[in-house]
Amino acid sequence: MAVKHSILVVDDDKAHRTMLKTLVGGWGYAIHEADDGSGAVDAVSERPFDLILMDIRMLNVSGIEALDRIKQLNPAIPVVLMTAYSSVETAVEALKKGAYDYLTKPLDFEKLRLTIHRAMEHTRLKAENRQLKADLTDRFQRHRIIGQSPAMVRLLDTVAQVAPSEATVLICGESGTGKELIAGALHYNSSRKNGPFIKINCAAITETLLESELFGHERGAFTGADRRKDGRFLQADGGSLFLDEISEMPLTMQAKLLRVLQERELTRVGGDAVIPVDVRVMAATNADLHKRVRQGEFREDLYYRLNVVALELPPLRARREDIVLLAQHFADRLAAKNRKHIKGFTPQAVNALTHYDWPGNVRELINVTERAIVLSRGAYLDLADLPLDFETAAPATPEAAGEALLTGQIPLDEVEKAAILKTLQAARGNKSEAARRLGITRKTLHKKLKKYGVMP
Ligand SMILES: Nc1ncnc2c1ncn2[C@@H]1O[C@H](COP(=O)(O)OP(=O)(O)OP(=O)(O)O)[C@@H](O)[C@H]1O
Ligand SMILES: [Mg+2]
Repeated sequence: MAVKHSILVVDDDKAHRTMLKTLVGGWGYAIHEADDGSGAVDAVSERPFDLILMDIRMLNVSGIEALDRIKQLNPAIPVVLMTAYSSVETAVEALKKGAYDYLTKPLDFEKLRLTIHRAMEHTRLKAENRQLKADLTDRFQRHRIIGQSPAMVRLLDTVAQVAPSEATVLICGESGTGKELIAGALHYNSSRKNGPFIKINCAAITETLLESELFGHERGAFTGADRRKDGRFLQADGGSLFLDEISEMPLTMQAKLLRVLQERELTRVGGDAVIPVDVRVMAATNADLHKRVRQGEFREDLYYRLNVVALELPPLRARREDIVLLAQHFADRLAAKNRKHIKGFTPQAVNALTHYDWPGNVRELINVTERAIVLSRGAYLDLADLPLDFETAAPATPEAAGEALLTGQIPLDEVEKAAILKTLQAARGNKSEAARRLGITRKTLHKKLKKYGVMP
């Protein structure tokens, strides 16, 4: 079943409102009501609507005032105003302020129906347009790598330098730091860019299948091999092969891979023809490969063969300058995808994003941003739209605490409590250390923890 479009009807004349509710509801829209301008503003700050139908002349907060505030909260919702014939000038003024259209009272019902329909269509087209644009940018900027931190700038310099060479590259870094993105950048900035870019995840394939997956097999090589098949190496001929999670490759396969890298030729499983291959290899790992070598789990000779050039992707928490840039970039793209109108982040959200530790790195940032977009009700993504851990991520600096106090967001007690808990967390639960950092005695700390109900 299609989701009904929602319309907020705002009118302080109850009879007129009820009439509209019955009429417009009968056309298949879900109707919500507000009995004056401030009720409308409250409703919009709580949830999005597809359209607002609002009387101009209302007792408390007028339609014009409400329009201003609604446009600030959610500029994407079309607002249709209703006005008596005598105040058409005000209505024209309202159009300048961003109202979608106005209708004069008494209402011409057919005109009302068409106006609503047209406004909905307008929103849909605008959203589609945004999506198309985002797709287009996506296609052309698939390899756009965001980052202005010194660490990223240095890394991208190296990428630009190494890309055109034929060197094998080992890309190391925590999960979600952008290893695959960098591999793509290396390929698409090399002379092989018109050749294939083939990926294989060594951890996702069982040992027995991996060999045939990489080198292919002859017909009848094993049960189920009913025809000859090329492996990823041959598929990547003339291009690049990205070996993801290389640390998980079994030792026997490591030996076979090494041979192919050295000889630049391979044989399919179950065959004996020697086939030359022209492939540039890039490998990625989030493990400490050198340690694996010392532990005898990874072949030293293969390690040096792969590690001709090593690229180390820094974790996000080591380049905090990039966090907001990335968040803004993904907010723009994901807002279009989710058909939302998002202008940015509130200062509180920015503060929390910048101080969070990001164990899942850029991938986690993408997920957190998308979640916030889905949950958000206004034009700005707020702290409340982030997962709970972010509330504690915002630092209890005197400035931040002072700000919060000034704006009446938090009572003084809460600031102290937050500062204490945050410090205790940072000190990994060590109370003496936390007391030292807070500049109070251990005894005072105990007293306060008791007061805040943190300790019995
Ligand atoms: N600097 C960046 N600029 C733009 N997008 C990025 C950046 N770094 C990572 N991403 C995006 O973050 C996501 C995760 O990146 P990627 O898949 O390359 O990480 P990974 O290091 O390969 O992770 P894993 O080890 O979990 O496979 C992708 O959607 C990627 O496009
Ligand atoms: Mg990856």
